[in-house]
Amino acid sequence: MTAQIIDGKAFAATVRDKVAGHVARLKENHGITPGLAVVLVGEDPASQVYVRSKGKQTVEVGMNSFEHKLEIDTSEGDLLALIEKLNADPAVHGILVQLPLPGHLDEDLVINAIDPAKDVDGFHISNVGLLGTGQKSMVPCTPLGCLMMLRDHHGSLSGLNAVVIGRSNIVGKPMAQLLLGDSCTVTIAHSRTKDIQEVCRRADIVVAAVGRREMVTGDWIKPGATVIDVGINRIDAPEKGEGKTRLVGDCDYGSCAEVAGAITPVPGGVGPMTIACLLANTLTACCRANALEEPEGLTA
Ligand code: GUN
Repeated sequence: MTAQIIDGKAFAATVRDKVAGHVARLKENHGITPGLAVVLVGEDPASQVYVRSKGKQTVEVGMNSFEHKLEIDTSEGDLLALIEKLNADPAVHGILVQLPLPGHLDEDLVINAIDPAKDVDGFHISNVGLLGTGQKSMVPCTPLGCLMMLRDHHGSLSGLNAVVIGRSNIVGKPMAQLLLGDSCTVTIAHSRTKDIQEVCRRADIVVAAVGRREMVTGDWIKPGATVIDVGINRIDAPEKGEGKTRLVGDCDYGSCAEVAGAITPVPGGVGPMTIACLLANTLTACCRANALEEPEGLTA
């Protein structure tokens, strides 16, 4: 079997189009423009790339983008004061503080200072609790993107065996909650899981989010299963020339694609969905803030 490729790049474009359509209607019918504030502390090169891309895509769907770039030695007090200001600003519907923060700043304290209703990352402890108890919340963007692709591919996920590899707060745990919410039978596997290959081979859905390059190979996959690869690992690619690199996932694409029924590639799979879902979350937060109906198909 050769797996169907789940094209995250194309899917993300359809999500952005949907968001843009809703934003245009919000403006026309209600005079409201959703706004996303992104806060970057320091000059981490990867974070700068992400933040630039977020700002660009925010503007492209018709939303307001507010970028706050702070010096690397910004004090916790100053950062918290900015968050307070953004919490109180009615033009700001979503707030994202780019992680990782410099070491002298307490990430949990900073994230939990964000108004949960504006927490478009879904990292605030209130949103974590709401998701865990099956209540309406802001949902972390990467797992939301994975869920959208799985729903699109399978229709109903009810009764399917899902194995999430990785137990991070950002991907693994919320992913498991979302799959449970869609009535999957969910296992979270991790570095200490016994017979992890056998555990994976029982899965109809494998979500790999461990951050170890090409760890999952085709012999871990049940024939016909769906493989969602969240990993983004940069590796040397001498075949492309001296000093060149390329991206690979947590799954060995070649061998997994021979066995799986469907698979997300890296790059071009989960990655593009994350920012698309950030825009979707900002729109959702804006609709909730204004007691307007939420867009369909853009939330969990
Ligand atoms: N850094 C890497 N990914 C993310 C993300 O999804 N949200 C935030 N806030 N920071 C990140």
